[in-house]
Amino acid sequence: MWNGTDFEFTVDAGDVSKAICPAVMIPAFTDGDGSPEVSRKIASITGVDLAALRKSAELTGTMKEFTILHARPGAPFSHVLVMGCGRRASFRLDDLRSVVAKAVRTLRKIGVERMLLVAATVPELSCVDVAEAAVEGALLGLHKFKRYSKKADAVRPFRELKLLASSSRDTSPARAAGERGKTFALATIQARELAFLPANLLGPEELVSAAEKVAKQHKLSLTVLGPAELKARGMGGILAVGSGSRRSCFLADLLYRPSKRAGLPRLTLVGKGVTFDSGGISIKPSENMHHMKYDMSGAAAVLEAMDAVATLGLPVELRAIIPTAENMPDGGAYRPSDVIRMYNGSYVEVTNTDAEGRMLLADGLAYACEHDPDLVVDVATLTGAVLVALGTSVAGVMGTNAWLVQTLRTVGEHYAERFWELPLYDEYLVHMRSSVADLTNSGPRHAGTITAGKFLETFVDGRPWAHLDIAGTAWSDEDSSMYLHKPYLPKRGPTGFGVRTLAGLAARVASASNGSSQKLRELTGYKPQRAVSAKRTGRSRSV
Ligand code: BES
Ligand code: MN
Ligand code: ZN
Repeated sequence: MWNGTDFEFTVDAGDVSKAICPAVMIPAFTDGDGSPEVSRKIASITGVDLAALRKSAELTGTMKEFTILHARPGAPFSHVLVMGCGRRASFRLDDLRSVVAKAVRTLRKIGVERMLLVAATVPELSCVDVAEAAVEGALLGLHKFKRYSKKADAVRPFRELKLLASSSRDTSPARAAGERGKTFALATIQARELAFLPANLLGPEELVSAAEKVAKQHKLSLTVLGPAELKARGMGGILAVGSGSRRSCFLADLLYRPSKRAGLPRLTLVGKGVTFDSGGISIKPSENMHHMKYDMSGAAAVLEAMDAVATLGLPVELRAIIPTAENMPDGGAYRPSDVIRMYNGSYVEVTNTDAEGRMLLADGLAYACEHDPDLVVDVATLTGAVLVALGTSVAGVMGTNAWLVQTLRTVGEHYAERFWELPLYDEYLVHMRSSVADLTNSGPRHAGTITAGKFLETFVDGRPWAHLDIAGTAWSDEDSSMYLHKPYLPKRGPTGFGVRTLAGLAARVASASNGSSQKLRELTGYKPQRAVSAKRTGRSRSV
């Protein structure tokens, strides 16, 4: 594993001819260099003549092309790395992540540990955006999963990305943006690592330990409900899912409050923490079952978003709720036809034990609403149907609040975590009606992502809420469209999808609300219908 702790991001301003670094990266576009002036200067110091290479068509600037050139002895750079970037006009922030990822990986392979990027050579993008995205691309691209082996893992280090800003006015904002990029990328890497752990090494208890670690590190308050407390409180959904496993199930609740000041905007995240989803009694086919170790990717995203937000000290009150269980078939397991009393008092007829995520999330969401949040977002590898609808590079988003859904989509776009909205029309709820209870937990095959969303909606008490279905995007494969477009993702394994969007959402909430819960409620248009705490009494009785 490479965790990025020995990585440094530095920013300077000034002339490239004064810079010293083992390697310099030059973006090359099909329609010219980003900054012909900087290219000319680099050519004159290093003896590497890009114009000549262009003439002979050794250099065309197409995306994916890269050329490593050696500078003349004594030059301030020993290597010049020319990275093809496609057409200037179509170059996006995410292309920068990709190109930087490939560049630093290439350098690491040949033992070069430091690289300079000149902001002026990346046209159209602001220095701040370049700083943030370059750091993200570098760190995410350098990350490698641990390989379990008797032999020690030997991973070469990569020590420094240097950015040369065009003006000294840019250096301090660029440094801050780079720090944010680093925080977000390292949190994403942690989320990948958690989801990578096989279920024998990471069960619900170990996931709770991971939450404890984050809580300790940032002095967050942490409440953990174990099986006895879940039972006493009547959290039937979580208990039902956990009942087939020898391992206990839990609900972890982390709270970040940056100051004692009342009235901060309150954002609550809920993540699905199924550490292994065998399907339970409605068992899954064996073919791809091994992937189901990543069924806690939502929980990992929520936990690591919390980690990032607390590291940055953002002015929001953030709560992360992680209901966690292992879904196994067993003599004690819940079964199709069981009727479960959920935490909010409604009854669910289990028609498929493999629709376990929503059972767990329903209790998590009802618990979330008790704490009077302004916004609630849940994240889950919830349905195979979202893969059918959107594939592996776009996640599903559904919700009850237009401001929240739109903000998630905009923030997601910035981090190249794309969300496409699916409708929550009421007619879909018909499919979740049960003849023996309030709801069934699984509908017909059609619109499986939406019916799951409708199910969850009944547990959010009319709050501004959004649901992110990341079943398609949380895992990368060599031949997935996601990996093909984003070389900073692992070739195979968990992607850490959602961490940056959720942490970015918290940042957006902080800035848009000006640090005020009241202002945030104006933005979302949320008005509480009634007092929140009054109606919830006598909930701890079970069926
Ligand atoms: N964890 C799965 C969803 C999933 C499937 C994620 C494939 C990644 C890849 C979830 O718990 C599940 O099994 N969902 C069922 C729901 C159905 C029984 C209503 C599904 O999608 O088939
Ligand atoms: Mn399942
Ligand atoms: Zn699942």
